[in-house]
Amino acid sequence: MQQNKTQKKFWSGSGGEMWVKDQAVFDRRLQSLGNAALQKIEFKTGMDIVDIGCGSGTTTLDILAVVGEKGSVTGVDISQPLLQLAAKRVEISGLTSARFLNQDVQTKPLDASSFDAAFSRFGVMFFEDPTKAFVNINQALRSGGQLAFVCFQSPERNLWASLGQRVFEKHLGIKMYEDKRAPGPFAFQEKSYISAILEAAGFVDIAIEGVEKTVDWYSGISISQAVDNLLRANPIISEKLTAAVVSSRDLIRAKLETSYAEYTSGGNIRFPAAVWIVSAISSSKQDGL
Ligand SMILES: C[S@@+](CC[C@H](N)C(=O)[O-])C[C@H]1O[C@@H](n2cnc3c(N)ncnc32)[C@H](O)[C@@H]1O
Repeated sequence: MQQNKTQKKFWSGSGGEMWVKDQAVFDRRLQSLGNAALQKIEFKTGMDIVDIGCGSGTTTLDILAVVGEKGSVTGVDISQPLLQLAAKRVEISGLTSARFLNQDVQTKPLDASSFDAAFSRFGVMFFEDPTKAFVNINQALRSGGQLAFVCFQSPERNLWASLGQRVFEKHLGIKMYEDKRAPGPFAFQEKSYISAILEAAGFVDIAIEGVEKTVDWYSGISISQAVDNLLRANPIISEKLTAAVVSSRDLIRAKLETSYAEYTSGGNIRFPAAVWIVSAISSSKQDGL
């Protein structure tokens, strides 16, 4: 499970710290995309929900407000700094029926038949063995339990990624996103791959809907800070950049800043994004084991 260890290191280290620092920027960016997935779940007060890869707890809080104090939300994540922030935010909210687990969803099963629904906002694309992770999610759901999540389509359809990709390939010699299914933001870019995983994990009534939207990718920060955010978002890029000569670092920055300026409007840097909104129902059949 080398990949899962790499992910844990990233999300508990530099990646998690960056998400804590820029929590408001990430939330503004992901809110409307996450809401499209939240709408796929028929929430009722009193339901028990699991938020997979809950990060800083924004969607955990949103769901808590809907299921009420008679229901519950369990946020599961592998990032200590993000879980700490999530717990702090829930405490400030005064809502009491949330709990957080520092747990790898793929390698440690959740309590069986404990939830009415599982939700994730961009938290399910980082598993080395996604079928195993979704088998675990399925067994944690009660019979007929609902699943909904949002994940990215290909980097080519997500300019925020392909724009940087072109610059890094040309000036750092990094081939990014070569393996379409490698754990990372684009692991679920293929619709047929998502269906196959969910079917093998025992889900039925699988629906995958494409949504395209232009979103405020960076808001409330300058172009230079936005480029900083991009350069810190990927450990391979930050490592290569540190090793690169100053002139290439400056050139990369300048190229990115020029491209970002083209997409700036009203103080926000807006990029088109393409995502899959996935929903399914839990059944007891699990071929993936
Ligand atoms: C892109 S972030 C999304 C965070 C949050 N859902 C949000 O929308 O703000 C992905 C999250 O998935 C978590 N994650 C990655 N691999 C995981 C695993 N195997 N088990 C549980 N959480 C995981 C990361 O720590 C990170 O918080």
